[in-house]
Amino acid sequence: MKKVFAVLFVAVVFSACGGGSKSGSADSAATTTAPADSSAATTARSIDTTKVGGKLIAKNDCLACHKIDTKIIGPKYADVAAKYPATDANIDTLANKVLKGGKGQWGDIAMAPHPALSLSDAKEMVKYILSFKK
Ligand code: HEC
Repeated sequence: MKKVFAVLFVAVVFSACGGGSKSGSADSAATTTAPADSSAATTARSIDTTKVGGKLIAKNDCLACHKIDTKIIGPKYADVAAKYPATDANIDTLANKVLKGGKGQWGDIAMAPHPALSLSDAKEMVKYILSFKK
């Protein structure tokens, strides 16, 4: 216990002496540019390409029509995740929809088919999409 106080005391003395010369680097590192989109500005997430599904999504054309927290041509992935629990049956249905394309669940705009994808790759992408709960 005494040691902790001693360390704290030293830290306080040091920072007091440091006075006006606060390091500028820590402050500037904290500022990142927020996206201009007002509806999603606070929570906009980006695709994690270290995940199998994320990498596939980034490699394919998905992001031309989908974003995680913003609706563009297709529904935002957060809405898809909110609508479907990540059950095997849902993952199967959605993966097949990605392969075949189609409309009707979110409106009259159709998703393009992706016949070149394998079902297992489509499932990886869907699993990743369904992880974007609010
Ligand atoms: C041409 C634009 C477009 C592209 C490219 C696209 N999508 Fe879609 N996506 C849509 C639209 C539009 C819908 C809504 C379809 C509907 O209403 O049923 C949709 C719906 C979805 C859904 C939900 C399906 C449902 O039945 O609820 C998933 C999952 C999805 N897309 C994943 C993907 C993935 C993964 C890719 C990339 C391989 C992709 N999309 C590429 C436009 C697109």
